[in-house]
This record gives sequence, structure tokens and C-alpha cells, in this order.
Amino acid sequence: MSERLEDIAAAMVADGKGLLAADESSGTIKKRFDTIGAESTESSRRDYREMLFRADDAMKAHVSGVILFDETLRQKAADGTPLVDVIRAAGAFPGIKVDGGAKPLAGFAGETVTEGLDGLRERLTEYYGLGARFSKWRAVIAISDSLPNWTAVKQNAQALARYAALCQEAGIVPIVEPEITMDGTPGDHSIDRCATVTEWVLNTVFDELFDARVSLEGMVLKPNMVIDGSKARKASVDEIAEKTVRCLKATVPAAVPGIAFLSGGQNDKEATAHLSAMNAAYDMPWKLTFSYGRALQAAALEAWGGKPENVAAGQRAFGHRARMNGLAATGTWSQELENAA
Ligand code: 13P
Repeated sequence: MSERLEDIAAAMVADGKGLLAADESSGTIKKRFDTIGAESTESSRRDYREMLFRADDAMKAHVSGVILFDETLRQKAADGTPLVDVIRAAGAFPGIKVDGGAKPLAGFAGETVTEGLDGLRERLTEYYGLGARFSKWRAVIAISDSLPNWTAVKQNAQALARYAALCQEAGIVPIVEPEITMDGTPGDHSIDRCATVTEWVLNTVFDELFDARVSLEGMVLKPNMVIDGSKARKASVDEIAEKTVRCLKATVPAAVPGIAFLSGGQNDKEATAHLSAMNAAYDMPWKLTFSYGRALQAAALEAWGGKPENVAAGQRAFGHRARMNGLAATGTWSQELENAA
């Protein structure tokens, strides 16, 4: 595999492929395991993720890279093979979440700023040595009638830009993820409010990336879709596709090779339908694909249920979602193909 940033970035968004976000922090993966009544231990987390990474057909055909949490990047499969090697053997790049999480922004109730820049240069060097070729930093932007404040938008965008520049210095492709959340604060906002805030945030992020001398050819953007709050009316698939594409065209330079959406709390089939609708109906200067966590894993997690005898079932469920999203990435998914499984 080529080691130039722009080649890695292009491979991450290759036709019909996308990213598996499996970088849940220890706290988040425990919450996911709680939903199936499984205990979260170092070995159960390993078993679950090994199940996904060894779903060979799905990985080879539809997964260009896997975002890992620090623990997983260092873990070995049950047979002693480093998980990084399992991922590489499937033709995918190992990636690493490097942010330290969204922390309350002092002076701004209800808003956060993502931490983790201190010591990042040294951590990136280590991660490169462990095999990571791309990374992720997630900024979380609150949304309501009165939020976000400019301070939160600006400080999160600056942190994303500093992170992205450090990654490129280290030979690692940065995934730049400014997420305007669907839920929270209080989650009843309209799709048009989401469009306004998303456009504002993305414009600010690309200003900061320019100031930080980040190479747009060597990065991937991971945005939210333009969508109603989780407690608001549900816009149609076509309206979400139209408003999302319009917002991205207004803000994301054509030099960016690809945009890989987060699922952000959409259910798995919705996340697939929305992505496919965009790719089916619009001409765009960049690739549009998935970097889903919950929307790729929910069915697999449930089918697995924490039981070794269910590994094959978990892999089948993951394989189906990966296939459906692979189709969506080329705009060729349909409800009939979804139901045929
Ligand atoms: P979801 O697709 O579950 O939102 O997770 C993607 C992700 O990596 C969020 O940072």
C-alpha cells in the first residue's frame, strides 16, 4: 500500500468502500455491551472486535479502514496475531482515535471543547510505529435556538486544525470530525437550523485548516448529515439528501478527496438510505461514503450477544450492513436488496 497521504486518503474513500468506526472509548463500549447484557472486559472487547475484523468478505469488499481505540491498536487476536495485522490482511488501513474527548467549555454552559493536543505529536509518532495510517478527532457542537456560541465553534475548529496539521507531519491522514449532534440540548431543532449551523461550522473549520496549512488532498471530512433533531419531525430521505448535499457543496473544497459521514444516532437502515440517496441523485466533486459506528455495528452486536457460539451470526449481520452501505456509497442500495437478506 502506498504511504503518501493523498493516496491513503483516496484509498479510504475508494468506490463502494467506507470506514468502520470501532473506536468506542472504554466507557462507551461498556454502555453498548450493557444493552446486550455482556460484561465489558479487555478480553470481551477483544473478542467482539476480532469478530468484526475477521468478517473477511465484508472487510475485503466494503471496509477501507477501521478506526480503533488505543487499547485495540495494541491488542492481539485470540491466536496471538496483532489485531492491526488482521485488519491489514483484509486490505484495510488501521486508524486511531486520538482526541481526549469533549469536555465542558469553561464559561459556556452546555457547550464542549475537545481536548487532547498536549503531547499529541509524540503519541502520533508512536501510533505510526504501531501501524496507524489515519486518525480521528471528534469535535462536538451543541445545537439549539441559542447554541452554538461563536467561541465554541471557533475553539473546536482551531483544535481540529492543530490536530490535522500534526497528523500530516507524522504521515497520518487526519479524519476531521465536527459533529453537530442530533440529540441533546434539547434535540428538537429543525433540519433548517441544522443546515445553518452545519454550514457555519464547516466554513469555520475550512478557514482554520487553511490557516494551519493543512493539505486538503491528504484529509477526510467526517460530518453529520443535515437532519432534524432526534426529538423533532423526521424529514424525508430526499429532503435530507438535498439539504446535506447543498450544505456540503457550499462549504467543502473540491480538493478534499472524500467525505465519510458519522451516523450520529440515525438507525442503521436510515443511515444507509440517506447515503444512497445522495450518491444516486447528485453529482459531487468528492466521494461520499460512510464512517459509521452504531449504524454498522448495532445488528452485529445484538446477533453476537456476547456469546462465542454466535460469532458466525454476528459476522453475517455485520456483513449485511457493510454490503448495504457499500451499495449506498455508490448510490445503488435499494429497499428490495435490504429485504432480500
Ligand atoms: P456513530 O456512527 O455511531 O455516530 O459513530 C461514528 C463516530 O466515529 C463518532 O465519532
